[in-house]
Amino acid sequence: MKDKVEIGLMGLGVVGVGVENALREKVEDFAKQVGAPLVVKRILVRDPSKKRACQVQPHLLTTNPQHIFDDPGIDIVVEVIGGESPAYDYIKEALSRGKHVVTANKEVIAKHGFELLSLAAEHNVALLYEASAGGGIPLISPLRHDLLANKVSAIHAIINGTTNYILTKMALEDVDFTAALREAQELGYAEADPASDVEGIDAAYKLAILAALAFQTQVLPGDVYHEGISRLAARDFCYAKELGYTVKLLAIAKREDNTFQVRVHPTFIPDDLLLAKVNGVFNAVQIDGDLTGRILFYGQGAGALPTSSAILADVVRLAQNMSQGSSPMPRVQMDQTMAAKPISEIETRYYLRMTVADRPGVLAQITRVLGELLISISSVIQKEVDERAQSAEIVIMTHPARERAMQQAVSEMGKLEAVREISNLVRVED
Ligand SMILES: NC(=O)c1ccc[n+]([C@@H]2O[C@H](COP(=O)([O-])OP(=O)(O)OC[C@H]3O[C@@H](n4cnc5c(N)ncnc54)[C@H](OP(=O)(O)O)[C@@H]3O)[C@@H](O)[C@H]2O)c1
Repeated sequence: MKDKVEIGLMGLGVVGVGVENALREKVEDFAKQVGAPLVVKRILVRDPSKKRACQVQPHLLTTNPQHIFDDPGIDIVVEVIGGESPAYDYIKEALSRGKHVVTANKEVIAKHGFELLSLAAEHNVALLYEASAGGGIPLISPLRHDLLANKVSAIHAIINGTTNYILTKMALEDVDFTAALREAQELGYAEADPASDVEGIDAAYKLAILAALAFQTQVLPGDVYHEGISRLAARDFCYAKELGYTVKLLAIAKREDNTFQVRVHPTFIPDDLLLAKVNGVFNAVQIDGDLTGRILFYGQGAGALPTSSAILADVVRLAQNMSQGSSPMPRVQMDQTMAAKPISEIETRYYLRMTVADRPGVLAQITRVLGELLISISSVIQKEVDERAQSAEIVIMTHPARERAMQQAVSEMGKLEAVREISNLVRVED
C-alpha cells in the first residue's frame, strides 16, 4: 500500500480547474475513502503563464508531457485536454507506460475507445471515462455495472445542453434559431464556433459511447446518423404544440435482432413524456431494459463541477482498487457481430411542413406521391393562407414509414409545380 496516490493532470482549463480545486478542497474526504491522500504531482498545460481560477504551485506546471509519462510515482493520468490530437497519443502513451487513465474526452473514446480499452487490458491498467458522456450524470458506470443483467433495447437521450437551451428558448419564447443561439453564446452556453453542438456532432460522440456499452458492441461515430437543429423555425414549435408534441434534439439508439440503429436529429416527442419536460441546459437519458423497464437519468451534462464529480469518482474508485491491491475494473465483453442499420432503412413517423399553391387538386397530387410510396397519412392540416402569394402552408403527419421512401417522396413532391417549398421534415418518436 502506497502512502499516497499521485496524479498527473493533463489540461487545466474549465474541467481541469474544477478537478484541481475539488482535489484540494476535499483532500481529507478523499484520503478517508482511499486510505491514502490523492496528490496532484504534475500538470500539463500549453501556456504556464496563463492566469487560472485555482491556486496551483507554479513548479507543478509543465508543457512537456514526458514529465508525466516518465515519472514512476504517477499512477493515474487524468486527461482533460480535449479534442483528438494530441490527447489520443497521450492516452495511448500513458496506458503503454502502465498508468491508469481517467478521461473526459468523448471524441477520443467514441473514435478509439475499443482500441484503447484493449491496450489498457494488455498493460493491466484501467481506462475510465465516466465524464465523457453526460457530465455529472452517472451513465457509464450504471451501463457497465448496475444494468449488466439487462438486455437494453433502447436509449433516448437529450445529451447536449447547448442545443437543449436553444430549443427550450425557441419553444417557450417564440424566438428564432439565430436569436436563441446568440443568447446561448452570450451566456457562455455555446462556443463561438457552435457547429459541433448545433450540428449534433457532440451528441453523436456521446451516443456512440453509450450505445456501445448498452448493446455491448462496437459503435463508431461514423455509424451515428446526425442532423442539426438550424432548420427548425418558430412555426414548427407552434405546430408541434398544437399536435401535442415538443421538439428536442434526441439521440436515439435501438437494438433490433442483430442490428442496431443510432441517430441524432430534431424529433417530435409527445408532450407527456418526462423527456419533453427536460428544459434549458439540463440533460436526460432514458434507458429501456428488459428487467428494469424504463429508467431515466437527469442532471447537468456539463460544467466544471458536475464534470469533475464524474472524473473524481473514477479517480477515487481506481485509487481504492490500488490501495486494496485489486486488479483493474473488469472489461465489458463486446459482441462484434452486430451491425449498424443505415438511416435509409429505419422506420418512423414524420412531420412534414410545406408551402403549396392555394388551389383545388393540390392535396390530391401530394397524397398520390405519398400513396405510391406506401406512406400513409395520419393527419393533414391546412395552416396559414397567403392570399397575395396564393399559397397555403400545410402540415402532414404520417404513420410509420421507411426513411428511404420518405426521402424519395420529399424529392418527388419538390418537383411538383404546385409545391412552392418543402420547409421541414422532422422525425416523430412516440
Ligand atoms: N467544459 C465542460 O463542461 C465539459 C463537460 C464534459 C466533458 N468535457 C470534456 O473535458 C475536456 C476538457 O474540456 P475543457 O472545457 O476543460 O477544455 P478547455 O477549457 O479548453 O481546457 C483545455 C486545457 O488543455 C490544455 N491544452 C490544450 N491543448 C494542449 C496541448 N496540446 N498540450 C498541453 N495542454 C493542452 C489547455 O492549456 P492552456 O490552459 O495552457 O491553454 C487547457 O488547460 C474535453 O474533452 C471536453 O469535451 C468538458
